[in-house]
Amino acid sequence: MNRRNFIAHGCTACLSIAVAPALLTSCTSTRYITGNMEKDGLRLNKSEFKTKGKGSQAYLSFIIVRNDAFKYPICIYRFSETDYTALWMRCTHQGTELQASGDFLQCPAHGSEFNNKGQVTNGPADNNLRTFPVVVSNNDIFIDMRKQS
Ligand code: FES
Repeated sequence: MNRRNFIAHGCTACLSIAVAPALLTSCTSTRYITGNMEKDGLRLNKSEFKTKGKGSQAYLSFIIVRNDAFKYPICIYRFSETDYTALWMRCTHQGTELQASGDFLQCPAHGSEFNNKGQVTNGPADNNLRTFPVVVSNNDIFIDMRKQS
């Protein structure tokens, strides 16, 4: 490789390194909300899932609710306008807080994984995640925290 090629390829590589993190950040950004705590659970607006698509309305596949009222966050997956799951982000192996990544949650401690319904897909955890009933109305989603499964 001559000097000219080295400089040209080197600049391309440097540009890739400089731009890649910005692209990755925008692709993987996660929306965190606090929701509204009520006596029996948590309420949020369906519009929290809205995001900008290419010319049409698009929706995030999940959002995370962090609220001082509870120790672990809740990950809410959206499957359709009327179908959601609410998952307690506490690993059932030893209690580490999970990380959501697309359609699954992963434990940073020992690598357990759970799907977007809360079912274990990879150990060492052998129990599914705690889930909460989700009641959907016109504009709201209510997470009933009195009950769990
Ligand atoms: S605490 Fe999550 S896999 Fe061990």
